[in-house]
Amino acid sequence: MKKYKVGIIGATGMVGQRFATILENHPWFEVVVLAASPRSAGKKYTEALGNKWVMDTPVPASMADMIVKDATADVEEIASMVDFVFCAVDMKKDEIKALEERYAKAECPVVSNNSAHRGTPDVPMIVPELNADHVKVIPAQRKRLGTKRGFIAVKSNCSLQSYVPALFPLSKFGVKDVLVCTYQAISGAGKTFDTWPEMVDNVIPYIGGEEEKSEQEPLKIWGKVEGDKIVNATSPRFTAQCLRVPVSNGHMGAVFVRFENKPSKEEILETWKNFKGRAQELELPSAPKQFLNYFVEDNMPQTKLQRNLEGGMAISIGRLREDTQYDYKFVCLSHNTLRGAAGGAVLMAELLCAEGYMD
Ligand SMILES: NC(=O)c1ccc[n+]([C@@H]2O[C@H](COP(=O)([O-])OP(=O)(O)OC[C@H]3O[C@@H](n4cnc5c(N)ncnc54)[C@H](OP(=O)(O)O)[C@@H]3O)[C@@H](O)[C@H]2O)c1
Repeated sequence: MKKYKVGIIGATGMVGQRFATILENHPWFEVVVLAASPRSAGKKYTEALGNKWVMDTPVPASMADMIVKDATADVEEIASMVDFVFCAVDMKKDEIKALEERYAKAECPVVSNNSAHRGTPDVPMIVPELNADHVKVIPAQRKRLGTKRGFIAVKSNCSLQSYVPALFPLSKFGVKDVLVCTYQAISGAGKTFDTWPEMVDNVIPYIGGEEEKSEQEPLKIWGKVEGDKIVNATSPRFTAQCLRVPVSNGHMGAVFVRFENKPSKEEILETWKNFKGRAQELELPSAPKQFLNYFVEDNMPQTKLQRNLEGGMAISIGRLREDTQYDYKFVCLSHNTLRGAAGGAVLMAELLCAEGYMD
């Protein structure tokens, strides 16, 4: 297979660093350009990073001396160097929307971790195991943008990457009402315990905008491509509370669920065990072999023990039991910067390549 040339926009950030790390030895993708704000532009990647590098492994040698481009001023130059870009920047929503459209209009597909375009009806928001068929909306988006190649595809919010994968395959039983409380790691805010010491020995019961995203974004994933857009589903109904907890990486969800047709516990466990999505069918390089993993022990899954399962791309589930008010309750866990951010975006890019959208 040919190697696709890729760029990382926002390469100095928390998600950007994850991209750099997981793309270092990627079988299909080669990083040829890095970009960030004007503060970093013109510097070598290591200089631009300063003491901001927070990954466990060193800065990839192939990228350490690359001169960082200006993500906004150098759009055309960057677009001419790559087959597509990954984008994770900390800018105002309107600015991100405009920037991503500029890349797309320069015929450079954008695989985005930003929330700016998640609500745009012809921008697919794909979890490759669940709604891979949403790629079919891309021709309509290209028509709107007036492009031949360029388009935008987005990743969903990291908070829902544990409970949506667990619930979506249960749709055959009619998932009706979902109540979820999320316990979210500090890396989700781009922070470490060094940069956010107030989080040590603390819980903060508010993450701006997170509950709305956790309730609304699943409905796009459950949605259908109709004509030139994705029409959101109207059920299941979601209600969420999102808490920041003193954990470095890994978002946990505690879920209560009610069904139209209540399945047996065995039917739920069988469904999770046997579930495979398009990512597994296509054997994409970053796809976990077993997407949904159920742990029978009462005290599992644990953030520290399971967050890195299958390279941080698998979902861990446990404690499935009947509830007195809903039908069932369970807990679930995913790695927020791997499956929930950069890893999920790389898997989506692999899907888009395999389905012919990056040629
Ligand atoms: N962290 C997560 O787990 C997670 C998960 C899902 C989605 N996201 C989303 O991903 C995005 C990035 O998050 P993050 O945690 O990586 O943020 P971050 O660590 O604050 O990094 C932000 C990046 O944006 C760049 N940037 C800032 N202002 C810019 C400008 N005016 N022009 C171009 N680049 C600019 C920064 O470059 P400089 O270093 O030059 O300032 C840096 O590379 C956000 O939209 C966030 O909501 C994050």
